[in-house]
Amino acid sequence: MKSFTDIVQYRRAIRKYDQNFEFDPEVVTRALELSTLAPNSSNMQMWEIHRVRSPEMLKKAKVFCMEQNAAKTANELIIFATAPQKWKQRAEMNANVIRRAFAAKPNTPEHVFAYYEKDMPLLYSGEGLVEYKGVVGEQGNRLRKEDVRVILNKSVALAAMTFMYALSEAGYDSCPMEGFEEDQIKKLLGLPQEADVCMIVSCGKRLPEGVYGPRLRLDAKDVIKEH
Ligand SMILES: Cc1cc2nc3c(=O)[nH]c(=O)nc-3n(C[C@H](O)[C@H](O)[C@H](O)COP(=O)(O)O)c2cc1C
Repeated sequence: MKSFTDIVQYRRAIRKYDQNFEFDPEVVTRALELSTLAPNSSNMQMWEIHRVRSPEMLKKAKVFCMEQNAAKTANELIIFATAPQKWKQRAEMNANVIRRAFAAKPNTPEHVFAYYEKDMPLLYSGEGLVEYKGVVGEQGNRLRKEDVRVILNKSVALAAMTFMYALSEAGYDSCPMEGFEEDQIKKLLGLPQEADVCMIVSCGKRLPEGVYGPRLRLDAKDVIKEH
């Protein structure tokens, strides 16, 4: 079994995949399932993952990835998108779990249920500014629509990362991309206007020349600050 260190070290952004490799789509299926186990804000799971692999859809999606090398030879393209339109269903799902968990305790204070039945609807209903009381103190944070988009994109990015590491574990490769025409991709997949395409991840099996040079990173000591 590979160690997590091996998996992290193996993953590179790949710009050229092996067209002769016998690509097993089941590997992608398993990696995608694992990706949905990523941590996510309030467990609202406001994400949608679109797997593009049919030849005709792949052809179109690659064009909208600006024909860049990381997409051109990929066996599949995985589109990781936010799903702000799903807030009601997700809040209800969580609320139901909590209601069931506390069903046998009739004196449960209302605030236990408020998070998913009041706070989350307030935050995600898209009604503009939201005064949101943090757990730390009385000072409310003022959350704007843009903040909510950031919240959703953070979680989606973690799902994409989980997916890429799952592929690495199987000896498969990927490249995360933000170089794409978002409106065209959204149109192609039928995503609503309010959704963000957080990242598109190409996948396949690397060719040696698909790795553009040795890994370049800052010294850890210049990035990691101790306090
Ligand atoms: C959010 C994000 C967007 C990226 N967009 C692109 C892209 O559009 N095209 C591309 O070739 N690489 C893209 N990359 C890959 C980075 O260039 C790559 O991760 C970086 O150069 C470090 O190389 P490594 O991943 O091999 O360590 C992106 C990476 C991230 C995390």
